[in-house]
Amino acid sequence: MPPGSQGLDVGCGMGLYALWLASVVGPRGRVVAIDPSSERIAESGATLENTPESKWITLREGSGVTLDEPDQHFDWVWCSDVLHHIDEAVRAVAEFKRVTRPGGTIYIKESQVLPALLLPGHLDLERQLQRADVEFQKREAGVRSFQERRQRTYETLLEAGLSDIRVETRIVQRQAPLDEVAKRYIQKAIFDRTWGPRIREWLSDAEWEERCAICEAESPHAILRRRDYYCLYPVTLFSARV
Ligand SMILES: C[S@@+](CC[C@H](N)C(=O)[O-])C[C@H]1O[C@@H](n2cnc3c(N)ncnc32)[C@H](O)[C@@H]1O
Repeated sequence: MPPGSQGLDVGCGMGLYALWLASVVGPRGRVVAIDPSSERIAESGATLENTPESKWITLREGSGVTLDEPDQHFDWVWCSDVLHHIDEAVRAVAEFKRVTRPGGTIYIKESQVLPALLLPGHLDLERQLQRADVEFQKREAGVRSFQERRQRTYETLLEAGLSDIRVETRIVQRQAPLDEVAKRYIQKAIFDRTWGPRIREWLSDAEWEERCAICEAESPHAILRRRDYYCLYPVTLFSARV
């Protein structure tokens, strides 16, 4: 994002990317950050409070499926870990295209298009947990799980009429000793929530027992306590020139 450019952050969540994007475009630029959830907008407001960047960020409620902005309004659109949540993804990307000026860029970031490696050395268990999560997501998301939707991002961009598309994947890597932020994210967001009780029904008793031994923070065998622990987490960026 060039300094001085103007862009839209779709599905800003708690506002971290809006803040980073604003620091990249600088005070001559502008970032409009939207999210349909009033709670997320409030969280973003808290994240941005007292930051210099908040002066050139506009926060408001809104959905990526119907944007208020006029045609060709922004230099870029950023959409991170959101598109797979949107049932009408093609319609949303067509909206992103409509509000981007010719020569501008649409960035769709999706984590785990390729599954992460979070339980090194426990290949079968990790596969079972991932499979159970796909079943859970399928029930949540309808016919296609979020994982399948993420993998179809390229197809969605083409269907929305974009053609100049690049796919780029980076692997985020962490190793023991983990810092508190990484440890908390893996334990709370992945082990306790994604691989928590919500996927129990798709696992056998033996698989659940193994999951508890390896993933529960209090377990004597907790993998996050191991001094040989490491993990790999892929992040994919689909960028399309308008
Ligand atoms: C996993 S969070 C990602 C937040 C942020 N972009 C990030 O990467 O940290 C998904 C966000 O998408 C938002 N969302 C869901 N449906 C949306 C829609 N139709 N338009 C825009 N955002 C949407 C949710 O409210 C939530 O804040």
